Amino acid sequence: MKIVITGALGHIGSSIIHEFPKHFPGADIILIDNLLAHRYCSLFNLSNYCNFQFIEADVSLVDLSDVVIDADIVLHLAAITDAANSFQIREKVAQVNFSATQQMAKLCLKYNVPLIHLSSTSVYGSQSCVMDEDCATDQLNPQSPYAETKLKEEKLLSDYQHRGLKYTICRFGTICGVSQGMRFHTAVNKFCWQAVMGHPLTVWRTAQFQKRPYLTLSDAVGSILHIIKKELYDGTTYNVLSQNMTVNDIIDIIRTYVNDVHISLVDAEIMNQLSYEVSNTKFQNTGFRFSGNVEKSIKETVTLLLNAGKRIVCFNPVI
Ligand SMILES: NC(=O)c1ccc[n+]([C@@H]2O[C@H](COP(=O)([O-])OP(=O)(O)OC[C@H]3O[C@@H](n4cnc5c(N)ncnc54)[C@H](O)[C@@H]3O)[C@@H](O)[C@H]2O)c1
Repeated sequence: MKIVITGALGHIGSSIIHEFPKHFPGADIILIDNLLAHRYCSLFNLSNYCNFQFIEADVSLVDLSDVVIDADIVLHLAAITDAANSFQIREKVAQVNFSATQQMAKLCLKYNVPLIHLSSTSVYGSQSCVMDEDCATDQLNPQSPYAETKLKEEKLLSDYQHRGLKYTICRFGTICGVSQGMRFHTAVNKFCWQAVMGHPLTVWRTAQFQKRPYLTLSDAVGSILHIIKKELYDGTTYNVLSQNMTVNDIIDIIRTYVNDVHISLVDAEIMNQLSYEVSNTKFQNTGFRFSGNVEKSIKETVTLLLNAGKRIVCFNPVI
C-alpha cells in the first residue's frame, strides 16, 4: 500500500503518521510538507513498520505526478491554517490553499487515486439551528478568508466529481489534544497554553457563550482510518466532531486543572462568527463511533505544559 500525505508534519498530520504504522504495516508512506509551520520534530522517531519518505515541497507549486501516479490514497492536509490571522493574508490563503487542493485533485483525477480532503466546520459560520451536511450552499456562512477558501475547495472537488474524481471531504471541528507537531493557535490549545503560563485567556468578546464543534485528535485519526478501511470515497461531505461546547465549558474544564485562570475579552475580525452547532450523525451512520473526550484532551495538554512549567520562568514583557 502507498499512502501520500500532504501537510504531514502539522498538528493533525504528525498524529496520523505516528499512528498509521500500527494499522498499515509495511506500507510506503510519502510525507510532503513545505515546513511552513517548522514542525521538523514531527519526523522524530518514526516507526520502522512503514517505509517513510519525506519530500520537502510546496504542493501548490511542485509537480507531484511521480509521487501520486502509483499511490493508493492521497490524504490532503497541507494548508495555511490560522483562520483568525487569515484576514491579514487573505490573498495568500486563497491562492495557496486553493491551488494546493486543485493540484492534488487534478493528480488524483488523472491517476484515479482516491482523495481525502480536510475542510472545516467553520464553513457553517453563524447559524441558529444545528447544522448538517445537507444544508444548501447558500445557507453556509463562512466568516474568515480561511473558511471561504475551504468552501471554494469543496465546490472544486464537487466539480471534479463529474469528471470521475473519487473523494471524501471531512469538515473537521476545531482540534484539541496532544501530538508531536501540535500547534497552539486554535481555541482549546491556545487557552491551555495561556492558562498554564499565567496569561489571561484571550477570548473573542462575542464568543464566550457561543457553541462550537470540537474534535479530539484521537477521533480525527480514527475518522481517517475509518474512511480508508471502509474505502468510503463516496464523493460526499461529512461533519467530523466529538462534541459541541461553549468556550465557557472549555474554560471551566481548564479551571479544574489550573488555578487563577483569568479572562481578557478581546476584539477580533473573526468575531462575526457567532454560535453554531454541528451534527455528526451522518458520519456515525457509516459505522464510526466517536469516543474522544475534550476534557481528557485538555487534561493531557495542561499536564504536559504544567510539567514543563515547573522548570520555565515565563516573563510577561511590558510593552
Ligand atoms: N487544526 C484544526 O483545528 C483544524 C480544523 C478543521 C480543519 N483543519 C484542516 O486540517 C488540515 C491540517 O490541519 P493542522 O491542524 O494539522 O494544520 P497545521 O498548520 O498544523 O499543519 C499544516 C501543515 O501543512 C504544511 N503546509 C502548509 N502549506 C503547505 C503547502 N503549500 N505545501 C506543503 N505543505 C504545506 C505546514 O508546514 C504544516 O506542517 C488543514 O487542511 C486544516 O485546514 C484543521
